Amino acid sequence: MLTDITTRTDVELLVNTFYNKVLADEVLGPIFNDVAQVNLSAHLPTMYDFWESILFGTGSYRGRPMPPHFRLTQKHPLRAHHFERWLALFFETIDALFEGEKATEVKSRAQHIASIMEYRVQQINEANTSNLLNRF
Ligand code: HEM
Repeated sequence: MLTDITTRTDVELLVNTFYNKVLADEVLGPIFNDVAQVNLSAHLPTMYDFWESILFGTGSYRGRPMPPHFRLTQKHPLRAHHFERWLALFFETIDALFEGEKATEVKSRAQHIASIMEYRVQQINEANTSNLLNRF
């Protein structure tokens, strides 16, 4: 029987398992590995803090989640299929490991943030496209 997410150790397991999938994924892997060249030893603890703060209100995450994605989409446009893949892997990870109120909550929080992020990223993509077109 699966149990709910209750401790930081659970959050670490969730994030580590998710990133193992993301980094090996044919759609998302190259974005993290090649485009962003993410330093995992710095990034993973940030993600533990992020999800821990969302789930348990610890306040351990003090960053801003959106700007790195705005920079990233200027290097490599992030599209709907990237967000769909991200969410599919995230949901798959949760469902394989946990069950309960927090497990359900974390999926809906992720979905909500992803939809705002996708909307704002698409605005940047469109602005970049029209800037390009205006040059000709
Ligand atoms: C298309 C999907 C996504 C891609 C390709 C992506 C990729 C990235 C990359 C490359 C970074 C920067 C890592 C670094 O510091 O070098 C990052 C940071 C981050 N991402 Fe995403 N991401 C995606 C979706 C999401 C979603 C949906 C969420 C939240 C639900 C999220 C939350 C974060 C957070 C919290 C950070 C850390 C920001 C900080 O440094 O404070 N990402 N992401």
